[in-house]
Amino acid sequence: MALGVAGSNPVRRPLKIAIVGATGLVGRKILEVLEERLWKENPEIIPLASKRSEGKFVEFLGKKIEVIPIEYGIPNVDFAIFSAGSDVARTYAPLFVEKGAVVIDNSSAFRLDPNVPLVVPEVNPEEAFKHRGIISNPNCSTIQMVVFLKPLLSAFGIEEVFVATYQAVSGAGMRGIIALNEEEKGGIFDETPFPTRIYRNVIPQIGEFSEGYSTEEWKMIRETKKILKSDVKVYPTTVRVPVEIGHSEAITVILRSSPSLSDVYDVLEKQEGLKVLRDGFATPVDVEDKDFVVASRIRFSPENPRALSAWVVADNLRKGAATNAVQILQLLIGGLG
Ligand code: A2P
Repeated sequence: MALGVAGSNPVRRPLKIAIVGATGLVGRKILEVLEERLWKENPEIIPLASKRSEGKFVEFLGKKIEVIPIEYGIPNVDFAIFSAGSDVARTYAPLFVEKGAVVIDNSSAFRLDPNVPLVVPEVNPEEAFKHRGIISNPNCSTIQMVVFLKPLLSAFGIEEVFVATYQAVSGAGMRGIIALNEEEKGGIFDETPFPTRIYRNVIPQIGEFSEGYSTEEWKMIRETKKILKSDVKVYPTTVRVPVEIGHSEAITVILRSSPSLSDVYDVLEKQEGLKVLRDGFATPVDVEDKDFVVASRIRFSPENPRALSAWVVADNLRKGAATNAVQILQLLIGGLG
């Protein structure tokens, strides 16, 4: 049956969804989140990965489904959610679009392309409907930060954002988790994605440096401007810490006005996807497997009535990746439900 839905593509039922990178950390989370959010749709899932995964199976709604190497051909699907890195996205996303699918891509390949919407459903849902076949999922640290910044920007204006991140090793994929676990056991992992030891250490480099800033920091600077449609200045320092799941961010925002703390709470508490703690704080352990961002330790500087600080945490594999991608799909098929 063909249904007329939001966006230009009429979507068939049952939905056919390809997961590219289905054997990866985020790919597996995507399957989990799809099960939780789309079980009523009973979608047909086509898990794709590299030839290394030939013969492997993934589970979806109690069924075992064989993983197919993507080299074997592009299936006809309604949606393809990619989480297999930029090279795979650049090679294969356009082929899915040619066949009429909408691609939701987790990599950075298309994020800054002016023809590709960069979407956080609680922040700029309207952008999703402007797609020309590809929609990008933003960087994980950027997603949780903009959920916190958006209501402040709308209500009070923002001049500058200072942010230091404390990012979990799972942000570097399965190899990140293996590296931490092997080092903890006293070993060395040859394929570590980190530039130095991560166990009992913190590393102020995520990606490569250019002009003094790391790739991750450039992503936060550029993607924030695109999502918020604002020239807000972002001063990031991104840091890898020996935590498995959950990114934390110490954020200080220089507002354009000086509201009271109670006005700030009122505005933040209305933001969809954001949970505000007036007392105490949340840690990565508290947000594991949660789909929302938590802001705590919200306070004004005693030295500057426009300088608002907070501690913002989220599950990087869920809200920072899988959940955000599935929410985009939900938007396109008619509401976040
Ligand atoms: P595979 O398991 O076959 O290597 P992670 O970020 O956790 O390391 O996961 C990366 C995901 O991207 C995995 O599912 C991986 O599949 C997939 N992937 C990596 N390279 C390719 C490729 N060239 N073609 C298809 N899938 C790929």
